[in-house]
Amino acid sequence: MTVDPNAATRGFPVPPPAHGRRSAARYLVPAVVAAAVALGLGIYGRLHDPAGTAFNLAGFSSTGAVKSWLATTAFFFALVQFVSALMMYGKLPGPGWAATLHRWSGRTAFLVAVPVAVHCLYALGYQTYETRVLLHSLLGCFFFGAFSAKMLLLRWERLPGWLLPIVGGLVFAVLTAIWLTSALWFFRTFGVTT
Ligand code: HEM
Repeated sequence: MTVDPNAATRGFPVPPPAHGRRSAARYLVPAVVAAAVALGLGIYGRLHDPAGTAFNLAGFSSTGAVKSWLATTAFFFALVQFVSALMMYGKLPGPGWAATLHRWSGRTAFLVAVPVAVHCLYALGYQTYETRVLLHSLLGCFFFGAFSAKMLLLRWERLPGWLLPIVGGLVFAVLTAIWLTSALWFFRTFGVTT
């Protein structure tokens, strides 16, 4: 569509340039998806009856121990993500394969965290009986929302340079807080056992 450059002076509203609308959508879509994912998980966790299902793996003493070690593994790979991101942005010296390391450590952290979160949501649900547990449930849902937003933003070109480090840093900070309010608490309460 051609926009008459004199339209504004004749009292007609001037439509925003097409690229302006597209750039608004590129922020709106990830934000809406993030909110939908986080809210959807939270509502599911709150509404369904926690199944309380326990599982065990040979060599581990309890479901909590398996989950805490898996969460610690996810946190370790998230740390690798953080360090490899600093390398990619030239803030730390690093090898030429820092981007590959970043991609694979991220995939691994996510794959390891998913079964833990599935158990949390299905068996334990969204709980609020203590500040720590409330924070953990809230951040657990927020994490998957923020993660989805980051994955969508990665696909977009010509983003402002600060956006990915902020969203990536947020995802990392949230996973850290999830680990502090779950696995670290578990190890401090029951001891560092398998
Ligand atoms: C990245 C995502 C998540 C990770 C890595 C994670 C990890 C853990 C771990 C290691 C525990 C301790 C072991 C246990 O008590 O079973 C735990 C407990 C728990 N999680 Fe999660 N979780 C995640 C997401 C969620 C979500 C989305 C919810 C609910 C909406 C949730 C709710 C709970 C609850 C209620 C507990 C029991 C808390 C307690 O009494 O100590 N978690 N989680």
